[in-house]
Amino acid sequence: MRVIAGSARGTRLAPVPRGVRPTLDRVRESLFNSLGQFFDGGGVLDLYAGTGALGIEALSRGSERAVFVERDRWARSVILENLRRTGLQDRGEVIGGEVETVLGRLEGRGESFNLIFADPPYRIAAAEVGGILYRLRSLLAPGGRVVIESGEAPVAGGEKGVTRRYGGTFVTILGRSELTMIVAVCPGSFDPVTTGHLDIIRRASKIFDHVVVAVGSNIRKHSRMPPVERARLIEKVTSDMDNVSVEVMEGLLVDFAREQGARVIVKGLRAVSDFESEFEQAQLNRTMFPELETVFIMASAEHSFLSSSAVREIASLGGEVRGLVPDGILETVRQIYSGPDGNI
Ligand code: PNS
Repeated sequence: MRVIAGSARGTRLAPVPRGVRPTLDRVRESLFNSLGQFFDGGGVLDLYAGTGALGIEALSRGSERAVFVERDRWARSVILENLRRTGLQDRGEVIGGEVETVLGRLEGRGESFNLIFADPPYRIAAAEVGGILYRLRSLLAPGGRVVIESGEAPVAGGEKGVTRRYGGTFVTILGRSELTMIVAVCPGSFDPVTTGHLDIIRRASKIFDHVVVAVGSNIRKHSRMPPVERARLIEKVTSDMDNVSVEVMEGLLVDFAREQGARVIVKGLRAVSDFESEFEQAQLNRTMFPELETVFIMASAEHSFLSSSAVREIASLGGEVRGLVPDGILETVRQIYSGPDGNI
């Protein structure tokens, strides 16, 4: 791999460490050509830097300084070697650690960058990208751009900004106003997921950029199906929703929301009878995490009397649950909850 243009043009970079997926030369070249005007001074932030090839190319083309963030020690030594080879060491800073943590430190330093590259070496969860995108807003200088590279499909947020495809690589370029990814957590015990739940998840997916369905366990209720199984059923019935993911939630909802970079809890509300307990939970969660808002979506009329407990009871007594749970999981629900113990 060589530097393509600028003061260090043609300099051969150090061999790529194992586990690092470098940006292909052809992708780097097209990307940097399309970003032409951004290398007139200013700062560059290279997240998940790997060999540092993106930040170094920017320095070579005229960016004033670059901060490289890389958690792997070996890769960090390669970045330092590449800075030395290109004679750009005075303008580069290499920081070790997880991106999330380092972003906090950079915010604390009041840093701002014209260009931010995020080229994760593995397919990081869409929700994690969401959390990062939202935080990059405060680090991006007015008029700056965030460039996200992804190997499989456009990452979350790819529906905003401009995404170009280079073979199997997707590159999304976002401006500051486009870094407003809102991740919502939709929690519940989903024992089992009902057509009412699915309606709420679908409607939430149209409002928020990403919805994480959090399968928890209500400590007041024993469940026949373990959370992973309940999550698997939800994955099955939400497979057509691109911006929905499903996770098992073990601890407190507020901690889970923080981990996911979520700012919203979304819940369905069926009737006034739901209100009291939901109000109590929303208030408690707000005490623990004041920036997290709970948003309620009113259940559709046809689902207003539908609950998981009713489904369990009907199934356990041999009744028909078609229409009450999504068709794709009908048989599984019948099998799991049938019989006298089904409603335990
Ligand atoms: O579908 P449910 O049974 O109403 O879901 C309840 C759930 C899982 C959303 C709730 O029990 C929960 O949030 N559990 C996580 C633990 C927690 O944060 N408890 C404090 C809430 S005030």
